[in-house]
Amino acid sequence: MENGFISPNEIWTPQVIEEIQEKAELGRYRIRGMGRSRRVPSFDDLVVVPAGLTRVPLEGYRERCETRTVLGTRFAQKPIVLDIPVTVAGMSYGALSLSAKKALGIAATTVGTSTTTGDGGMHPDERRASKMLVYQYLPARYGQNPYDMKRADAIEIVVSQGAKPGGGGLLLGHKISAEIAALRDLPEGVDQRSPVRHPDWMGPDDLAIKIEELREITGWQVPIYVKIGASRVYEDVMLAAKAGADVVVVDGMEGGTAASVEIQTEHTGIPTLAAVVEATEALRELGLDDEVQLIISGGIRSGVDAAKALALGATAVSIGTAALLAMGCNDPRYAEDFRSMGTEPYSCHACHTGRCPAGITTQDPLFMERLDVAVASERIANFLYSMALEMQTLARSCGKSNIHHLDETDLRSLTWETSLITGIPLVGQRRNHHAAKTPEKVSSRETLTEGKW
Ligand SMILES: Cc1cc2nc3c(=O)[nH]c(=O)nc-3n(C[C@H](O)[C@H](O)[C@H](O)COP(=O)(O)O)c2cc1C
Ligand code: SF4
Repeated sequence: MENGFISPNEIWTPQVIEEIQEKAELGRYRIRGMGRSRRVPSFDDLVVVPAGLTRVPLEGYRERCETRTVLGTRFAQKPIVLDIPVTVAGMSYGALSLSAKKALGIAATTVGTSTTTGDGGMHPDERRASKMLVYQYLPARYGQNPYDMKRADAIEIVVSQGAKPGGGGLLLGHKISAEIAALRDLPEGVDQRSPVRHPDWMGPDDLAIKIEELREITGWQVPIYVKIGASRVYEDVMLAAKAGADVVVVDGMEGGTAASVEIQTEHTGIPTLAAVVEATEALRELGLDDEVQLIISGGIRSGVDAAKALALGATAVSIGTAALLAMGCNDPRYAEDFRSMGTEPYSCHACHTGRCPAGITTQDPLFMERLDVAVASERIANFLYSMALEMQTLARSCGKSNIHHLDETDLRSLTWETSLITGIPLVGQRRNHHAAKTPEKVSSRETLTEGKW
């Protein structure tokens, strides 16, 4: 205490003061890129419990650990078959530069996974670069047409995103170049706000009709995904599955974005950890957990996060921000540019400005030429491989010969909070585990002591 004042002030922190002063200047809310920044319960609060005497671990170099993943087995004639259970999330051409889109497509193709279009349609170069391309069907309908839909390997109906559930897309004027304007049928250089809901439906019955319509357009060939920002997850997943989705994508509140109203990113939706638990529960409750696959996204940073999501019931994870970071987002080589924008390398979230120094979230030719597609795609592919290797390492340590055999019994909670959210026992508590192992999922090689874990 100094001169009667308590320091530091925990209510009127420098951050709060800065926010108020900025809003006083702007006369509106703040907008920014990247995902949530405050701490919420996360996969970090779970640990993996490898094999000891109850099971034996598998040898890294001699015993296989399968990573193959199939999505869309419910109704589609051509399900998506991935070599690894990590997909690249939908990020629009417009939010991203064309080079960034191409790099994502090439990287996904290299490692045998899919990438996704975004709010702005399919660019021919993205189609060419991506062996498996998921086509997003969004409320804005920018650049959308049945011709591109028929060229897609899956359709993803976007209800909402984790970074802004209940909110629409934002693309500020400096990113609306002549080409982006032409693709989206918008005036050049004018801020664009996408609608928050699909214009032709008001609820789950209309979603069922829309799914059928898209199946007709695509001849029942490709899977139909439904993507939902994590909010009322249990109910939303049930409704999406009942409406006929082949795959449900749940994007937690940590989900990244190129531009969002800051309060929506920080204060709306529920964390990815809780979302995967609720989504799994909903599918199990319906008895559809073997038929409808679950993709989880939002703040997935590594194979460790991915392995924990799979253990909690996801079939695959999807990444956005991590792929951008792998290709050079926040690269310290551009420190001076970051400072000129009032930010620093490793803490940039200025994707909305259109001045991305790394050439990723920009349409400015000066910045775009900094992104070398070959280098960027190799870096993303390396990162995706590293995620798969990390997942295999953890699965093998638990004695699992397939990463999809990871389950709740391979985890323990580090905090009461996480234990309450997930139902996974707290470390140090010798309680009966709640989750029954599905016998056919575990080979005799994987468990030595029947009935125990
Ligand atoms: C630059 C950027 C652009 C995005 N554009 C879209 C989009 O067009 N449509 C969409 O459904 N989600 C979009 N998203 C959200 C991603 O699809 C995904 O849900 C999110 O990035 C997952 O979280 P993560 O970034 O923490 O991995 C975007 C995200 C980023 C980072
Ligand atoms: S470096 Fe570019 S992509 Fe990364 S946060 Fe900054 S503006 Fe966004």
